Amino acid sequence: MSTEYEVKNRNLAPKGKLMIEWAEAHMPVLMKIRAVFQKEKPLKGIQIASCLHVTKETAVLVKTLKAGGAEVALCGSNPLSTQDEVAAALTYDKINVYAWRGETEKEYQRCIDKTLTYNPVILMDDGADLISTSHKKGIVKGITGASEETTTGITRLRSMEQEGALKYPIIAVNDAYTKYLFDNRFGTGQSTIDGIIRATSILLAGKNFVVCGYGWCGRGIAMRARGMGANVIVTEVNPIKALEAAMDGFTVMSIDRAAKVGDIFVTVTGDTSVIRKEHMLKMKDSAILANSGHFNVEISIPDLEAISKSKRTIRQNVQEYMLKDGRRLYLLAEGRLVNLVAAEGHPPEVMMMSFANQALSAEYLVKYGKELEPKIYKVPEEIDQKVATLALSAMGIQIDKLTEEQVRYLKSWELGTT
Ligand code: ADE
Repeated sequence: MSTEYEVKNRNLAPKGKLMIEWAEAHMPVLMKIRAVFQKEKPLKGIQIASCLHVTKETAVLVKTLKAGGAEVALCGSNPLSTQDEVAAALTYDKINVYAWRGETEKEYQRCIDKTLTYNPVILMDDGADLISTSHKKGIVKGITGASEETTTGITRLRSMEQEGALKYPIIAVNDAYTKYLFDNRFGTGQSTIDGIIRATSILLAGKNFVVCGYGWCGRGIAMRARGMGANVIVTEVNPIKALEAAMDGFTVMSIDRAAKVGDIFVTVTGDTSVIRKEHMLKMKDSAILANSGHFNVEISIPDLEAISKSKRTIRQNVQEYMLKDGRRLYLLAEGRLVNLVAAEGHPPEVMMMSFANQALSAEYLVKYGKELEPKIYKVPEEIDQKVATLALSAMGIQIDKLTEEQVRYLKSWELGTT
């Protein structure tokens, strides 16, 4: 079958090929899985529709699925996150790619729709737009199951599950330990700081850096911002997470108070309108606003537009909003994922674990999907353990094994103080 595609410019492929090679060199776990897939072809003849950020790391994943025998159609999971060089290169790897940086919302949806025309058996999603489109359009026949990459996607899918709307099983890749403990924390932590620095080139040391949301992503960003010498302030709605942030040594306060003192604001809550007009009106001149949550709704852009008299692009990925009273607020990456728009997303070393879970979950769905109900499932424990073991081995780290005595001790309830 000939490869079909819609990308920005196929001539960018040589650069994309090098980017993919670089990622492959830093994703040994996924490359190990690729070698096994190449031999065993567990996905032979399986059509996979995927909606993922089209990055060099995603390229390593889809090439692995292809090596396992799958046919892959790929679209972006955000209108601004596609690396056009990578998208171009993938068209030469026989991947049907529909993605380019700067898609309009209509084009973004059209690309999602396009991947569903390939009669997919498995869907691989990041944010649940692909799965929700397949349900809205009634394209569910023949789909054995899907996997979901991110927290926001899982939240949406849980609503579908609760309403009884789900038509096929979902594997919650996000909820694997080897995903969220590393990707969400260390990946988002590093790539968000990377995006802010690439976009602005400002010094973080000594700045008041406000992190809205103390989930795994927020924890990672707060930790890394502190490492750069910023004074980190956390805002939360969940008392347990707020308490944890306080005991982790961060200043915790309401967004209303933080608005007055913050120099840089980053939202990572997964919710809407976290930073609104009433907060923006209290901010210091030159405050910087960025979002690292999946959707561009966390900073209210309609509010920002409404209180501004003009706006201009002052540098790539930085829009200056001139407020009616003369203060300036700087919005990064149009309020979309700053780590993927202004930087390259999470580093390959964490994506290799997230995507190892994706690849092995696809294999699992092919083997067992038909036996599953239309519910949300955890990544099987064996897969999670296998990914951790492979990652440790790639890092050259050896760990201990329990002795027989220790196994017996852990199993017995009679033994205690001797
Ligand atoms: N999500 C966050 N970082 C990513 C990356 N580098 N590739 C694909 N998806 C991502």
